[in-house]
Amino acid sequence: MTLEKAKEKLVKYGQEHVLRYYEELSPEEKQALLAQIEATDMSIPEACKRKEELSRKGNITPLAAMEISEIEANKDSFVATGLEAIRAGKVGAVLLAGGMGTRLGSDNPKGMYNVGLTRELYIFECLMNNLLEVVRQADAWIHLFVMTSDKNHDVTVQFLKEHHFFDYKEEYVHFFQQEMAAATDYEGKIYLEEKGKLSTSPNGNGGWFVSMKNAGLLDLVHKNGIEWLNVFSVDNVLQRIADPCFVGATIQRNCAVGSKVVRKSAPDEKVGVMCLEDGKPSIIEYYELTEELMNAKDEKGDPAYNFGVILNYLFRESDLELMMEQNMPLHIVEKKIPYLNDAGELVKPESPNGYKFESLVLDMIHQMDSCLPFEVVRSKEFAPIKNKTGVDSVESARALLQENGVVL
Ligand code: UTP
Repeated sequence: MTLEKAKEKLVKYGQEHVLRYYEELSPEEKQALLAQIEATDMSIPEACKRKEELSRKGNITPLAAMEISEIEANKDSFVATGLEAIRAGKVGAVLLAGGMGTRLGSDNPKGMYNVGLTRELYIFECLMNNLLEVVRQADAWIHLFVMTSDKNHDVTVQFLKEHHFFDYKEEYVHFFQQEMAAATDYEGKIYLEEKGKLSTSPNGNGGWFVSMKNAGLLDLVHKNGIEWLNVFSVDNVLQRIADPCFVGATIQRNCAVGSKVVRKSAPDEKVGVMCLEDGKPSIIEYYELTEELMNAKDEKGDPAYNFGVILNYLFRESDLELMMEQNMPLHIVEKKIPYLNDAGELVKPESPNGYKFESLVLDMIHQMDSCLPFEVVRSKEFAPIKNKTGVDSVESARALLQENGVVL
């Protein structure tokens, strides 16, 4: 992109300030900045002017989950169906590892965190071990797609290679990078992180399928006959991946997506819960749940919005292709964003100073026609690591790993 064209684009979106150090840059840095300006979707920061409108919800009604008693009663049949699909190569797994893990506060990607006490046990290793259990049970390898971002790609790939993918078969592991989005101040002005670089951050976990497509991986999906993609987060070390019972139940119920859920520990627990929104499956965030919804009861007298999502979804791949054309809603998140001040010095703020723009995987559920919320035992399958200490932390996850017989 020429400087003239870049100026034109920046003026249109009120972002000319990002060129303020342009004359100080080397020719290569100038080229890099112009290329970044060309590649950046400048309409995104405008979303902060429509903040209210973006968070509006439709009409919320309950969506019943398949509860543990029902799952237990049908377990053999679900497992048989799931194993059959896995052996036929119809199931792939997608690890979302592009996040910044700012709450954990480690400089490395979250998956590289060592949760071991007397030995090394990395988060990536826990996940590989969990998936390997299914590989052994099915006696079939499962393609594993790993999403990284510009901020952590090289170090993630290098780490997994150095550790020989923790015994996972390398040819079944495929990396792809998610897209980045510009970060802004509260007025929607894009920050600079260097004199020749816009401040960017990963664009949320909702773009994973589009990013997989952009990376050319759908060819591999089609060639291998993969019909289901189990997408899961990096930070739940007890996560069951490609769980045959879950796969079988979703297939037998003929749902477009299955969603693993846990029974809430309290009505005001801070998890998103499954529901119907304007008649379609959806997830309502805890801060959107009104008192009335929080206390609503179903026909059995149980809380009507009682099942929280744990970021483990099984999507029918063909349905994902159909929804790709639809726009995902944007979420505007307040974050601490390192930036260059007026003196051209890098500032690392102690408290939030602006917005990041993200799309979220949970919004993909609302694009689907049907969803099976599938209850799992919390203490066996849910040990998220978000923080260093306290709730959802390294400490709480270690305790749960030990409770499940993992030597730390
Ligand atoms: P979180 O919402 O916990 O975000 O991600 P995070 O960036 O990892 O952590 P904080 O909020 O900065 O502390 C849930 C899952 O989605 C992935 C994460 O890697 C994690 O597996 N994710 C998140 C992405 O892959 N890309 C993103 O842009 C954001």
